[in-house]
Amino acid sequence: MEILVTYLTRRKKGGVSRRTEERSAEALHFGRSTNAEVYLADPRIRFEHAVIHHRPGGLFIEVEKLSDVRVNGQTSSNRSIGVGDVLGIGPFDVTLVEPPEGKDISIEVELVRPLGDDYAQLAARSTVRLEDYGLSRRLWSWVGFLAVLILFLALPAWYFFQHTEASAEKTVGRRFDAVWNSGPISSQHQFISDKCNICHEKPFVQVRDSACLSCHAPVTHHFDGATAEISNVPQFRKLPDKTCNDCHQEHNGSQAVTISKESFCIECHKDIERKLPQSSIKNAGRFDLDHPDFRPDVVTDSAARTFNRISISNSAELSENSGLKFPHDAHLKKDGIRGPNGKETLECRSCHILPRGAANFNPIGMEGTCERCHQLVFDPRRPDRTLPHGQANNAQMLIREFYSDYALRGGVNDVQAPAPDITRQRPGEQTPVTSQRQTAPLAWADQQAQRVADMSFGKTMCGNCHEVSSGSGKGPLNWSVVPALINKAWLPRGRFDHSAHSDMLECDSCHAAETSKKSSDVLLPKIAVCKNCHGGENVSNKVPSTCITCHDFHLPGTSRMGNTKAWRKNPDGEAGEMHNLTSIEGKN
Ligand code: HEC
Ligand code: HEC
Ligand code: HEC
Ligand code: HEC
Ligand code: HEC
Ligand code: HEC
Ligand code: HEC
Ligand code: HEC
Ligand code: HEC
Ligand code: HEC
Repeated sequence: MEILVTYLTRRKKGGVSRRTEERSAEALHFGRSTNAEVYLADPRIRFEHAVIHHRPGGLFIEVEKLSDVRVNGQTSSNRSIGVGDVLGIGPFDVTLVEPPEGKDISIEVELVRPLGDDYAQLAARSTVRLEDYGLSRRLWSWVGFLAVLILFLALPAWYFFQHTEASAEKTVGRRFDAVWNSGPISSQHQFISDKCNICHEKPFVQVRDSACLSCHAPVTHHFDGATAEISNVPQFRKLPDKTCNDCHQEHNGSQAVTISKESFCIECHKDIERKLPQSSIKNAGRFDLDHPDFRPDVVTDSAARTFNRISISNSAELSENSGLKFPHDAHLKKDGIRGPNGKETLECRSCHILPRGAANFNPIGMEGTCERCHQLVFDPRRPDRTLPHGQANNAQMLIREFYSDYALRGGVNDVQAPAPDITRQRPGEQTPVTSQRQTAPLAWADQQAQRVADMSFGKTMCGNCHEVSSGSGKGPLNWSVVPALINKAWLPRGRFDHSAHSDMLECDSCHAAETSKKSSDVLLPKIAVCKNCHGGENVSNKVPSTCITCHDFHLPGTSRMGNTKAWRKNPDGEAGEMHNLTSIEGKN
C-alpha cells in the first residue's frame, strides 16, 4: 500500500512545522525498531508497537501484546479504523486523514506527551521538601561523607594498626577492619577468614605469593622452564612470572578458588606439537572434540624397569611386558576353578581389593592372593615345607639344604637313595661324620636338588607364573627369575578414581578381563568410554568436566613455584626431572 506520513512539530512560539515522508509497504508498522515504517523514538514505545493493515473491508489496527494504544481515547486492542480516528500510540497521537490521490493511507504523527512531563506534573503537585524539615541537602552530604570516613576508613585503620595478630586472637566481638572485606572467603580458607593479615601481609599492598607459600610451600610448577626449548616459546616463558592471584581468586565465596576454564589450558595445548617439537605430548583441544586418546605407559622391560607410551588403538604394539604370566580367562571361568577346598568361582574382587573410597586397587601380592591355590610345595612328601616366595636364590638354597639334610639323615624312603653311610653309634659315643662318608649321600642330594629346582623353577612353580632363565651362575642351582613389574599407573598424567565410579559401572564396561588369555594384554578402556558420560565444560546432557576435573596443574618433579621469578630446581629434588618418561621409570 502507498503511505503518506506527516510529522507535526509545534513550535514554542506557536505554529506547526510539518515534515512528510512517503512509504510503500505491505503494512504500516509503528515502533522503535528501525524497520518500522513509522519510527517512533521514545522509550515508552515498544520495539514493535502496532501495525495497520489494509484489508478488503478497510483499515485494521493490530496492537502488539502489552502495547499502549488508544483509539479516540479508548484503550484498544485489534479493531477496524477509518479516516478521522485519532490513535494514541504511547505518547504520540496519530490522526488518520483523507489520503490524497494515489495514496491508500495518510496519517499525521505528533508527539503530544513528551518525556519528563510525568515527573514535572508529579513534582508540581507535591508540597513536601527536605528543607521543610530543617535538613539541607548540604548537611546530609556532610553527615554521609563523615560516616563513611569513620566507619570504613578511620575505625578499620585504627583497628588494623592497633591489633597485632596475637591480640586479634583475643579480641571478642566485631572486627572493624572486616568492613574492608571485598567478599566472603572461600570454604577452603574459611578457617582464616577473620585473620585478614595472614594473606594481606601489608596494608594497601596486593596479596603476595609469599603469603600463600607460607602454607602452600610445596606447590610446584606446571613444567620445568630450565630447558632451552621451553624458554624459547614466549607463551611458555611467561608462566613463571604469573602470581598465585592470576589463577586463584579469593573473596568469591563458595565459587571455586581456581581457574577452571578449558580455554586456559587449551591456549597452550592446542598446538604444543608445533611449539615444542621435542615434547612427547600430543595436542589437546576441547575435551568433547579434540582430546587425544590414551597412550598408556606400558612396561617394555620389567628387569630394566623401562616404560613406553603406546597408543591404545595401536593394537599391534600395545603389549605389557610385566615378566609375569597370568591368564585372566582361566581364573574367571563361570563354572569355577579348582581351589584348595574344591571348586570355587572367582570374581574380580577375589584378587583386586579396592579399599573404601580409594582411587586405586591394592597391589596384588602372590602370598595374599595366589598362594592358597598355587602353593610352593616342592616335595610331595613334605607338604608343610614351602619355598620362600620372591627370593629366587634363597629358594634354591633351601632346596639344596633340604635334600642335603634329607640325605644325611637317610632319605630312606626313596628307593634310589644311597644308604646313609653312618655307622651306628652307641649312646654317649661321638663319632664325627667324616667327609669321606658324606660324599655319596651329598652327591645324591645335589642331583635331587637340581632335579627339583629344574622342575619347580622351569615348570610347575616359578616358571608357571614367571619368565625364568637358566644357565650356570644364574643362581645356586642355576635358575633365575626375571624381576616382575606389575604396572600401577598406566595413565599417570590423568586422574581416574575407581571409587567414584564403582556404583555406576561394572568392571567389564572398561576392562575386557574375562576373555584375556595373557598378562601382556593391556586391559584399559579407550577414552570414548569416558566420553559416554563426561562432556566438555558446558554440556548439559553429560557430566560437565573441565580439564582440571581429570588433570593436576602443579606437577610433581618440576621446580617450586616461588617468590623468585627465576626457574629453580626443586631444592628437595624429590623427583628430580620433569614428570616425564625418565621419571616414571623410577616409579614402583
Ligand atoms: C586466603 C587469603 C585471604 C584472606 C584470608 C583475605 N583476603 Fe582479601 N584478598 C585476597 C586476595 C588473593 C585478593 C585479590 C586481590 C589482590 O591481588 O590483592 C584479595 C583482595 C581483597 C580486597 C580488594 C583490594 C585488593 O587488594 O585488590 C580487599 C578490600 C580485601 N581483600 C579485604 C580483605 C579483608 C578485610 C579480609 C579479612 C576479613 C581479607 N581480605 C582476607 C586474599 C585474602
Ligand atoms: C594459613 C594457611 C593458608 C594460607 C595463607 C593460604 N592457604 Fe590456601 N589452603 C589452605 C588450606 C588448609 C587449604 C585446604 C586444603 C585442603 O582442602 O586439602 C587450602 C586450599 C587452597 C586451594 C585448593 C582449593 C581447592 O579448590 O581445593 C588453593 C588453590 C589455595 N589454597 C590457594 C591459596 C592461595 C592462592 C593463597 C594466597 C592468596 C592461599 N591459598 C593462602 C591454607 C592456606
Ligand atoms: C603456559 C602454557 C601452558 C598452560 C596454560 C598449560 N600447559 Fe600443560 N603443559 C605445557 C607444557 C610446556 C608442558 C610440558 C611439555 C613437555 O615437557 O613435554 C605441559 C604438560 C602438560 C601435561 C603432561 C604432563 C606430563 O606429566 O607429561 C598435561 C597432562 C598438561 N600439561 C595438562 C594441562 C592442563 C590440564 C592445563 C590447564 C589446567 C594446562 N596443561 C595448562 C604448557 C601449558
Ligand atoms: C574425563 C577426564 C579428562 C578430561 C575432562 C580431560 N582429560 Fe586430558 N587426559 C585424561 C586422561 C585419563 C589422560 C591420559 C593421561 C596419561 O596418558 O597419562 C589424558 C591425557 C591428556 C594429555 C596428554 C596427551 C598425550 O598423550 O600426550 C593432555 C595434554 C591432556 N590430557 C590435556 C587435557 C586438556 C587441555 C583438557 C581440557 C580441555 C583435558 N585434558 C580434559 C583425562 C581427561
Ligand atoms: C585370580 C586373581 C585375579 C582375578 C580373579 C582377576 N584379576 Fe585382574 N589381575 C590379576 C593379576 C595377577 C594382574 C596383574 C598381572 C597382569 O598384568 O595380568 C591383574 C591385572 C588386572 C588389570 C590390569 C592389567 C592390564 O594389563 O591392563 C586389570 C584392568 C584387571 N586385572 C581387571 C580385572 C577384572 C575386571 C577382573 C574381573 C572380571 C579381574 N581382573 C579378575 C589377578 C586377577
Ligand atoms: C582359586 C584358586 C586359584 C587362585 C586364587 C589363583 N589360581 Fe592360578 N590357577 C588355578 C588353577 C586351578 C589353575 C589351572 C587352570 C587350568 O588349567 O584351567 C590355575 C592356572 C594358573 C596359571 C596358568 C598355568 C598354566 O598352566 O597355563 C597361572 C600363570 C596362574 N594360575 C597364576 C595365578 C596367579 C598369579 C594368581 C594370583 C594372582 C592365581 N593364579 C590365583 C587356581 C587359582
Ligand atoms: C602363582 C604364581 C606365582 C608363582 C608360582 C611364583 N610367583 Fe613370584 N610372583 C608372583 C606375583 C603375582 C608376583 C608379583 C606380586 C608380588 O610381589 O607378590 C611375584 C613376584 C615375584 C618376585 C618379585 C618380587 C619383588 O618384590 O619384586 C620374585 C623375585 C619372585 N616372584 C620369585 C618367585 C620365585 C623364585 C618363585 C618360585 C619359587 C615364584 N616367584 C613363584 C606370582 C608367582
Ligand atoms: C570407567 C571405566 C572403569 C571401570 C568401570 C573400572 N575401571 Fe579399572 N581402570 C580404569 C582406568 C582408566 C584405569 C587406569 C588408571 C591408571 O592407570 O591411572 C584402571 C585401572 C585398573 C587396574 C590397575 C590399576 C590398579 O588400580 O591397580 C585394575 C586392577 C582395575 N582397573 C580393576 C578394575 C576392577 C576390578 C573394576 C570393577 C570393580 C574396574 N577396574 C572398573 C577404568 C575403569
Ligand atoms: C557411567 C558414566 C561415567 C563413565 C563411563 C566415566 N565417568 Fe567419570 N564420573 C562420572 C560421574 C557421574 C562422576 C561424578 C561427578 C561428580 O561427583 O560431580 C565422575 C567423576 C569423575 C572424576 C572426578 C572424580 C572425583 O575425584 O570426584 C574423574 C577424574 C573422572 N570421572 C574420570 C573419568 C575417566 C578418566 C573415565 C574413563 C576412563 C570416566 N570418568 C568414565 C561418570 C562417568
Ligand atoms: C598459571 C596458573 C596458576 C598459577 C600461577 C598458580 N596456580 Fe595453583 N593451580 C592452578 C590450577 C589450574 C589448579 C587446579 C589443578 C589442580 O588441582 O592441580 C591449581 C591448584 C592449586 C592447588 C590445589 C591443588 C594442589 O596442587 O595442591 C593449590 C594449593 C594451589 N594451586 C596453590 C597455588 C599457589 C600457592 C600459587 C602461587 C605460588 C599457585 N597455585 C599458582 C593454576 C595455577
